[in-house]
Amino acid sequence: MSVQSAIRRKTAPDIRARKNGEPVVMLTSYHAHTAALVDRYCDVILVGDSLGNVMHGFETTVPVTLEMMILQGRAVMRGSLHALVVVDMPFGSYEASKEQAFHSAARILKETHCGAVKLEGGVKMAETIAFLTERGIPVMGHIGLTPQSINTLGSFRAQGREEGSWQPIEDDARAIADAGAFSMVIEAVAEPLARKITEAVAIPTIGIGASAACDGQVLVLEDMLGLSPRAPKFVRRYGELGPAIEAAIESYARDVRSRAFPGPEHVYGMKPKG
Ligand code: KIV
Repeated sequence: MSVQSAIRRKTAPDIRARKNGEPVVMLTSYHAHTAALVDRYCDVILVGDSLGNVMHGFETTVPVTLEMMILQGRAVMRGSLHALVVVDMPFGSYEASKEQAFHSAARILKETHCGAVKLEGGVKMAETIAFLTERGIPVMGHIGLTPQSINTLGSFRAQGREEGSWQPIEDDARAIADAGAFSMVIEAVAEPLARKITEAVAIPTIGIGASAACDGQVLVLEDMLGLSPRAPKFVRRYGELGPAIEAAIESYARDVRSRAFPGPEHVYGMKPKG
């Protein structure tokens, strides 16, 4: 007997088909409850390795492990119903060989039931992307600023600031599109370059700090909600949850300290003794 869900999630081919169509809306989420909210409005939920910064307070994404990604991927899948869930492959889980990449990506798909993985890198990763897609693993690429390479880049600076430095990034975009990626994140590149790449490749480009010229946009949820102490300068804040959460915690602490905290009688209708 086959078990089929009545709810159909978006798939990698659905997102691939959005080239030159309605812009792709994508946000990160790492938890079931935020995933449920994001799921109502987004086509794609990214379980980004930025969870290393946001959830664990690491300075970079380098320390993030495959186990961390799988745990939060499972939470996001439980919380969402409609969006395509893409789980980031963390640093060290795919660069050594295409076989290593397949082993890690297969674990992500089997253990989370997500619909695709994302990995960083262009020309150098093209062979790996082809190997994965030919074996049933949809891959979202990630070019421009690739935060997992922070130790060789030296800083999180925008890429391709001068026209003379565009060619390698354009080559990266073409290489991963030709290799079979169904879409690609372009991070922190100037608008004219993002536009040129978007016009050149046949798959949707999803920008983060890469202008409205892309086929879609992604942000880290906590950055756009005003919850991150250090969000990148390009992030438009759609909320100021940090101060709202602090005000709520302050009120709670005040209530507890002044014994104004409601007891169980408040809920159960019991009369306090004495
Ligand atoms: O890890 C992440 O959240 C990402 C986005 C910034 C695209 O890769």
